[in-house]
Amino acid sequence: MTRIRLAALAASLVFTLAASMAALAQDASQTVMTACTKCHNAKRVCANLGVKDKAAWDATVTRMVKNGAQVGEKDKPALVGWLAAQKAGAKPVCE
Ligand code: HEC
Repeated sequence: MTRIRLAALAASLVFTLAASMAALAQDASQTVMTACTKCHNAKRVCANLGVKDKAAWDATVTRMVKNGAQVGEKDKPALVGWLAAQKAGAKPVCE
């Protein structure tokens, strides 16, 4: 009985974690599509997916914030992580 409960609890924890990670990833891609398409189009970002690594994206996003991009300090790590994790041609940036 206890074992079944524990398994159910573990399963629901894994599910919650996966769901919130998916939500975070979606948030980050939405941030790119809104905050990063104000001054240039998404093609400029798209051209660098799968090219820049995390450090390079971090430097780029920092420079874009200086340019005037509306990205909060607390949203930056998720945004940089999402950008660095994408392959060339990834949607929604490269649609
Ligand atoms: C306030 C205007 C503005 C916003 C908002 C903006 N950019 Fe830019 N972006 C620029 C300008 C100006 C350039 C060209 C000069 C430069 O590279 O700094 C540029 C160039 C780029 C380049 C090509 C140069 C390189 O270093 O590869 C990339 C990639 C890029 N932006 C990504 C982004 C991302 C990602 C975001 C969202 C976090 C973003 N931009 C938001 C103004 C902006």
